[in-house]
Amino acid sequence: MTADAQALNDAFSSDGLRFQTGPGGFVRGVVTTPSCVGEFLLHGGQVTQWRPAGHDEVLWLSPDAVFEPTRPVRGGIPLCFPWFGPHPTRAGAPSHGLARTHEWSVYSVDTSGDAVDVTLEALIEGWACRFTASFGGDLVTTLQVRNRLPEQASFEAAFHSYFAIRDVGAVSIGGLEHAGYIDQTNADAPRPPEGQPVRLAGEADRIYLDRDGGPITIVDASERVIEITGTNARSAIVWNPGNEKAHAMPDLGDGWRQMVCVELGNVRDNRITVQPGQTFSMTSRVGVRGPSASE
Ligand code: BG6
Repeated sequence: MTADAQALNDAFSSDGLRFQTGPGGFVRGVVTTPSCVGEFLLHGGQVTQWRPAGHDEVLWLSPDAVFEPTRPVRGGIPLCFPWFGPHPTRAGAPSHGLARTHEWSVYSVDTSGDAVDVTLEALIEGWACRFTASFGGDLVTTLQVRNRLPEQASFEAAFHSYFAIRDVGAVSIGGLEHAGYIDQTNADAPRPPEGQPVRLAGEADRIYLDRDGGPITIVDASERVIEITGTNARSAIVWNPGNEKAHAMPDLGDGWRQMVCVELGNVRDNRITVQPGQTFSMTSRVGVRGPSASE
């Protein structure tokens, strides 16, 4: 059943959060606090905006995003779960799993200091999922999943975060210098560590496994620094489709120049196995330093 914005306002009223009906009839929560402005959709349990005080928007939402019930929204932080990329065996299964097109329900809304913590829930193929977005001076997202099946089961998951940047050609991504990666643009060829920050020239689609949890930084032409830190997230993915692939996608187009995806999660050989009744959770924290780029 589709949630009703007014009913959600009645049930979860908070000074810092209002529910509204947005494009496509999607219900969205709008967070406004002294520390930030943010927005999320029940469709996909997806954060679509976060702008900490004194800074420009940190997440990128495609101007060509499509708001339809069966499709994921291009931008923000889609949740990839319970698989990443194409399903390994099921032909025709949607890319990146079922979470990002699932209609999530609101479980709770809490206010702690300047932050608004919103927890959404969903039952996805035997996994009881809770997704919490803590909108404050940092943006903290947590995906917690409990195995409700009678046997052990495994999954892949990622916070597929789209970050807003001024110019993809000028961006520098630090924190991955000493890690090899799987090159998805070249039949999953293994690549050695580059020994320097990642710079993007054309299409990039990289999976880094077995990370130790150190921060990843995105430095823009404006010198703004976005820092992403994960807990229980051993994989990182860096993706930009480049000009040709972006224009072959109905909801991306020229926007590829102003975005880069840096995703934390557990994919491929880092997939997670959970015993019946047990829970696993992973977290990503995003912070911003340096000048506001608004002028
Ligand atoms: C990235 C993958 O995470 O998502 C890419 O590494 C993929 O291979 C990209 O192309 C976008 O996927 P989708 O399903 O949102 O178009």
